[in-house]
Amino acid sequence: MWAAETGETCYNIFMSKMDEIVSLCKRRGFIFPGSDIYGGMAGTWDFGPLGVLLKNNLRDIWWNYWVDKRDDMFGVDAAIIMNPITWEASGHTATFADPLIECNDCHSRFRADKLVDGYSESITTEEFKAINPKCPNCGKANWGTIRKFNMMFATHVGAVLPEDENGSEEDKALARRSIAYLRPETAQGIFTNYKNVVDTIYPSVPFGLCQFGKSFRNEISPRDYILRDRECSQFEIEYFVKPETWETEFEKIRQEYISFLTDKLGLDKAKLNELEVPEEDRAFYSKRTIDVMYSYPNGEEELMGIAYRTDYDLSNVAKASGKNMEYRDKNTGETFVPHVIEPSMGLERAILAILSKAYTEDEINGEKRVLLKLPEALAPYKFCVSPLLKNKPELVEKAKFVYNKLKEKYTFVTWDDSGNIGKRYRKQDEIGTPKCVVIDFDTLEDDTVTVRDRDTAEQVRVKIEEL
Ligand code: GAP
Repeated sequence: MWAAETGETCYNIFMSKMDEIVSLCKRRGFIFPGSDIYGGMAGTWDFGPLGVLLKNNLRDIWWNYWVDKRDDMFGVDAAIIMNPITWEASGHTATFADPLIECNDCHSRFRADKLVDGYSESITTEEFKAINPKCPNCGKANWGTIRKFNMMFATHVGAVLPEDENGSEEDKALARRSIAYLRPETAQGIFTNYKNVVDTIYPSVPFGLCQFGKSFRNEISPRDYILRDRECSQFEIEYFVKPETWETEFEKIRQEYISFLTDKLGLDKAKLNELEVPEEDRAFYSKRTIDVMYSYPNGEEELMGIAYRTDYDLSNVAKASGKNMEYRDKNTGETFVPHVIEPSMGLERAILAILSKAYTEDEINGEKRVLLKLPEALAPYKFCVSPLLKNKPELVEKAKFVYNKLKEKYTFVTWDDSGNIGKRYRKQDEIGTPKCVVIDFDTLEDDTVTVRDRDTAEQVRVKIEEL
């Protein structure tokens, strides 16, 4: 765990870039440890006022690019708690499991493949024991056998008393029947609505259904700040294609997604690494998967995946529901079960990639400064408006006028009259505000303001009406 991950503010000169980002996120109100006030809740994170703005901007950019601007994509927003048949049909009940290993000495539990290099979730006890790593908690190397641990969070739906050991047999049976799961991926909310959408808006294949929302995974070892959480948000698209076109459609989506990551989110192409996942490491339903890796400051990690899921999901929904999932081509009358290309990206992983790219340290007049060079569309605030002096009512009044005018036009405008002007600039640099607008005594004479640029620190005089 990194120093600042616990929420401690740490000003050690040896802090890594990652620790600096974690610290900034807490200090400036982007991301707090979940349930911080009660000592935290592993694998959960809360977004503060600045984080919510960043997250909403990312969501809007994604939705605008993939849904609003396209004629072949449509949105859905399914319930988080779904009928448990969903997870039987999708295979999650049987196979959504990670390899759990327990230390026989201290009884700490870990994800086995994360304690050794070069192994996937399918690691066996024999493979693990051949390497026999030390327990990260007690330092011994006395391990049990690997067990499969299902990562779905179970809950009970309805008026049941699951925890009452003295309850009647009827209560216990009711509790067993009432088990439901928090969805571990948003994708199944799309597959289960495929027929509803086809029967109501008659889209032409190829078409995609897009969803953004929360997913829950009881990760054995949540870690790496917001990269592996127990509660995360996913951007998922299920793109329904004619079976024989899957390769072309896969390639199109792949290229479009890479453009989205670089052109819209501003990520460096050089930090993206497209990994062709070998057959033995792919989910069993996938005939091709690319993991798009990102070089975070502390190492490479999966940012998103693009998978060809064949007709696995729709065929299973058809079997489990008894409903026909065939698509009928309006022009030719041909019927087929569409195959699916699925790009899936986690919001938290995208946020950390964006923050790592944006986090910059430089010097202004010999003084070190920290800034977030966020693309304007992602920046929580587009402008900060300040009166040069807060004890001069005429400056404050004029600054309020400019603030209200800008807020009408751009919405995301902040006001800052704390400390001196230098401190205000430092603060706005750290939260990524592209422009600071300062109202001074000249403004009262000629209606011009100083506009300071975040990245260059250059200042220009601009007429208020030109802002
Ligand atoms: N529907 C396919 C699916 O869920 P996945 O590879 O398990 O595939 C897709 O997840 C993406 O969701 C990942 O690439 C990652 O960005 C994000 N993700 C998955 N598990 C996560 C976790 N525990 N914490 C944060 N993000 C996660």
